[in-house]
Amino acid sequence: MAVGIFDSGLGGLTVYDAVTKQLPDLHVVYFGDNAHAPYGVRDADDVFNLTTTAIERLWDAGCDLVILACNTASAAALRRIQESWLPKDKRVLGVFVPLIEALTERQWGDNSPPREVAVKHVALFATPATVASRAFQRELAFRAIGVDVEAQACGGVVDAIEDGDMILADALVRSHVDALKRKMPHPEAAILGCTHYPMLAESFQDALGEDVQVYSQADLVAASLQDYLARHPDMLGTGTESAFLTTGDPAKVSRQATQFLRRKVDFVAA
Ligand code: DGL
Repeated sequence: MAVGIFDSGLGGLTVYDAVTKQLPDLHVVYFGDNAHAPYGVRDADDVFNLTTTAIERLWDAGCDLVILACNTASAAALRRIQESWLPKDKRVLGVFVPLIEALTERQWGDNSPPREVAVKHVALFATPATVASRAFQRELAFRAIGVDVEAQACGGVVDAIEDGDMILADALVRSHVDALKRKMPHPEAAILGCTHYPMLAESFQDALGEDVQVYSQADLVAASLQDYLARHPDMLGTGTESAFLTTGDPAKVSRQATQFLRRKVDFVAA
């Protein structure tokens, strides 16, 4: 009964945290590709190759279902993974759709035609690769009409978090919010389209102002995983243990993860 959660680094821990709170009996194997983070500046082939290598490692750990808790991998590689790489008995799910369903007030899997929704001006904060892919706008267009999206590529933020430099990360967030506001002065909603960014949710909210609704993915993805597993119990893999795997330095990654999750976390080499 194990599910895999993958991210380029520490960001997917925001999703891990929400999933383990919502599904406390589930075994979760977390894979952080910290040696190769950030993905946000890599090209699509590179992201595909790194992501599929990590997914295969999670299959070896008994996880038939893998959540890509990484928007960059979801944007740059998920479609190719699902269309041309994935065997029939495995599943890989991304993190965009639950977020867009929440923004567009849809129930899980509601595939009715696009319609008008309450929010009209949305700010998207994401990595350069996610912004360049336009995957968010594409998924949104399937579900909503008349929504103006202004995207801000937040260069440097993931690097700063991975280096543990939260002061720099906070300063970068504020400058990216300023840049966004020059293009869209009054967004009604803001999407944190990178799983690292909830670690800086307060900085985003503070810089945006309290009247802007900030959406982040962790709880939305956890709820949609719970729903998915209730409908597809056969996708609970054979794994019987939880684990934290990293391609980076296990001691350093464990220290950072322990600080973030506020409980002792021991990563081992992937
Ligand atoms: N947490 C990843 C995401 O959601 C960060 C990507 C990166 O490594 O740049 O996009």
